[in-house]
Amino acid sequence: MRIAMIGTGYVGLVSGACFSEFGVQTICVDKDASKIERLKAGVIPIYEPGLDTLVAKNAAAGRLSFTTDIGPALKGVDAVFIAVGTPSRRGDGHADLSYVYAAAAEIAQEIDGYTVIVTKSTVPVGTGREVARIIRETRPDADFDVASNPEFLREGSAIGDFMRPDRIVIGTESERAEQVMRQLYRPLFLREAPIVATGLETAEMIKYASNAFLATKITFINEIADLCERVGANVQDVAKGMGLDGRIGKKFLHPGPGYGGSCFPKDTLALARIGADNGSPVRLVETVIDVNNKRKHAMADRVIAMCGGSVAGRTVGVLGVTFKPDTDDMRDAPSLDIIPILQAAGATIQAYDPAGMHEATPLLPGVAWKADAYDAAKDADVLVIITEWNEFRALQLERLAEIMKRPAIVDLRNVYNPIDAINAGFAYTSIGRPSAPAATK
Ligand SMILES: NC(=O)c1ccc[n+]([C@@H]2O[C@H](COP(=O)([O-])OP(=O)(O)OC[C@H]3O[C@@H](n4cnc5c(N)ncnc54)[C@H](O)[C@@H]3O)[C@@H](O)[C@H]2O)c1
Repeated sequence: MRIAMIGTGYVGLVSGACFSEFGVQTICVDKDASKIERLKAGVIPIYEPGLDTLVAKNAAAGRLSFTTDIGPALKGVDAVFIAVGTPSRRGDGHADLSYVYAAAAEIAQEIDGYTVIVTKSTVPVGTGREVARIIRETRPDADFDVASNPEFLREGSAIGDFMRPDRIVIGTESERAEQVMRQLYRPLFLREAPIVATGLETAEMIKYASNAFLATKITFINEIADLCERVGANVQDVAKGMGLDGRIGKKFLHPGPGYGGSCFPKDTLALARIGADNGSPVRLVETVIDVNNKRKHAMADRVIAMCGGSVAGRTVGVLGVTFKPDTDDMRDAPSLDIIPILQAAGATIQAYDPAGMHEATPLLPGVAWKADAYDAAKDADVLVIITEWNEFRALQLERLAEIMKRPAIVDLRNVYNPIDAINAGFAYTSIGRPSAPAATK
């Protein structure tokens, strides 16, 4: 089979590489000429574990190629996937669908023969139908069907997620399109990945409902963590005790500085807009958005409190700035709120991130970027762990305490055991766990 992927970002590149690994002839298209040049030269534009090997292997086998030229790319394909960005529209929080609709218009000009046009981008209910309308209007003679195939991969474990998904959602009204989609995903079906075959609108809704639910779960445990601090409970044990209940599940019960990233913030906002516009407000999600926004400020306040009420003239060391580990993605990362608040309060920031510093530099002016975690801690008044990269889990606490001006850690990811930190001489706070050794096992 042959497919084209329109948009070669996190989703398009990973999905394209994985489909080519299944043996599908795949061509990835992007408007960004420098990105395509780099990919042709074997340079992966994003940080995603394992992606370089997968791309190199399939490009060498002639199953995966890259182009900026959509015309030739679409000749003879069975399906074309739209995997362009759908960021929040400035001002109102709606998903900005201009990239999706522009891609649809371009696709319409170029398809030949029966083609399934698949929306992989996260899009509001009704977008698939609008894509069909655009194609029909631009090319009344085109032989096509539309399908919705939302993507659930997570950055940092994207290849594993694509290859071993919890489910594959295929939304279409066409039997023929469904068969093409089932054929494309056959290798996963053989591995017993469940397929949810449904209508267009339902498939689009599944994606938003899933992301909003996960964002809600994170926000729930964050609020429980705050309450644990007040009442002397340990949120880690609370989360474990909750998560062992099969109805709840243990994932996404890790408290932290608030969700961020390229999906949850914009998708919760978009769902809230869809609800409001359709006279069926999703008040729970609206509250989640509000609670999560306020949380970033509360995290900065914790750092200020650790410095005795003011960070004016203080040096704050920061470990991790990406929205999560194993990615260089800075979109809506909590660090983008927390660090400027501390700077505005008079702090000097010195930071280190294993993969995100290149992306972060233009977004966080005034930050001194350091070569490693110890460099970021050197002479600092307080060290803040914002992203839980593995390499921050086993730092030598005694060494850190020695090189800091004042040994103090604000651990926003509960990376350290409070007893270890206190024994190493640190003033230490984390999320939802008592700092007093007696209360912590
Ligand atoms: N990043 C994730 O973890 C993730 C997970 C699941 C779903 N999604 C959804 O997938 C979609 C894509 O997200 P992403 O993170 O890959 O975005 P991205 O910004 O990394 O990539 C989008 C790419 O599309 C390209 N593009 C835009 N218009 C184009 C056009 N007309 N022709 C060719 N290329 C074009 C851009 O140049 C860019 O390279 C979004 O809707 C997102 O919500 C993302």
